[in-house]
Amino acid sequence: MFLHRLHLRNYRNFAEQVLEFPPQGAAIVGDNGQGKTNLLEAVYYLEIFRSFRGAPDEQLVRFGEDVFRAEARLADASGADRSVSAAFDRRARKKKVTVNGAEPERLGAALGQVGAVIFSPSDVEIVADGPGGRRRFLDIVLSLAEPGYLGALQRYRQTLFQRNTLLRKGSPRALVEAWDEGLITAGSRVVAARDRWVAERSNSFGTHYERVAGGQPGRMSYTPSAPEMGDAKGEAEIAAAFREALGRAADREQRRGMTLVGPHRDDLRFTTEGEGGTLELRTYGSGGQQRTGAIALRMVEAETIHQARGREPIILLDDVFAELDPGRSQRIVDWIEAEEGGQVILTSPKPTDFQLRGETLPRWSIRAGVVVPD
Ligand SMILES: Nc1ncnc2c1ncn2[C@@H]1O[C@H](COP(=O)(O)OP(=O)(O)O)[C@@H](O)[C@H]1O
Ligand SMILES: [Mg+2]
Repeated sequence: MFLHRLHLRNYRNFAEQVLEFPPQGAAIVGDNGQGKTNLLEAVYYLEIFRSFRGAPDEQLVRFGEDVFRAEARLADASGADRSVSAAFDRRARKKKVTVNGAEPERLGAALGQVGAVIFSPSDVEIVADGPGGRRRFLDIVLSLAEPGYLGALQRYRQTLFQRNTLLRKGSPRALVEAWDEGLITAGSRVVAARDRWVAERSNSFGTHYERVAGGQPGRMSYTPSAPEMGDAKGEAEIAAAFREALGRAADREQRRGMTLVGPHRDDLRFTTEGEGGTLELRTYGSGGQQRTGAIALRMVEAETIHQARGREPIILLDDVFAELDPGRSQRIVDWIEAEEGGQVILTSPKPTDFQLRGETLPRWSIRAGVVVPD
């Protein structure tokens, strides 16, 4: 599958834009502030129906307008066609999504139609900042790749909200505990899926890290909120461990007025080996090591999407080569060539001669929200 037509109306600084992409993709070149990230954000919006930058939908509507609309047409080699659209009305605060012209019953059912992965300089925050971004990463990948994950996550969040409300008000323990089984059932499903994903993908993360870094090893591991949940295997054992951890935390929870164990407090850990032994990338990694960790993570995501969808993902590269040395940049290109040789849409402030399967990507320019194909 590749994106062959994108139609934007009043999305960020795009007024009206129709673009026809060739199967290999395109390189979009333009100065800062012209709309390069906005364009890739719009494509990825049609994958997850929200901004990958975390911007609320209101901010995506062009200044002075009320409604944005984005539509993608995807095609495969056999000519089979699919369309995905999203529109948001700022006044009515209403989002409308369609797949092949029909509205899905739930938004969750429409996720992942584009089959894309986005690489962005801000990915470094996943590695370098607090655990919230790492949980968000896991939640997006698993919602896209694992049936049932999003539903379990939503049930978990609702239950957590109820339980926290009671704890905050200092309600009697029995009232709080009434929510425990619901919390444990949904939460164990979330933890089990995260645990399995990290276990299945940690070798691959290591391979990508080492390759991009040019030899240094890298590791990814999962750290659930309570140690016994890390040792548990499978949903039933995790549920038992969760129950035990909640029991132990009950007094503290009442004092603090919030739920202290569960997947809302999980983390992912990225490490490399340095002179003095194992080095946590978050706290001790150099900027380059942190960026490498983020790239390896996106590569693992691409593999996950590839396997889940049964086809190569569309690779969106937002200005990623600017901050990388030529060696690392070349190794990303090699990876796309060798393993994920699908469509590539990349942006750059400078003209790049990005070669894919021997062909140079067509170079388009962008200025003030207008893309001019060559
Ligand atoms: N809702 C919006 N309406 C109109 N313009 C917007 C909106 N949101 C952001 N912009 C504009 O988009 C530009 C930034 O676009 P961006 O894609 O981040 O640039 P870059 O090419 O550097 O990646 C800024 O000039 C900003 O004012
Ligand atoms: Mg940008």
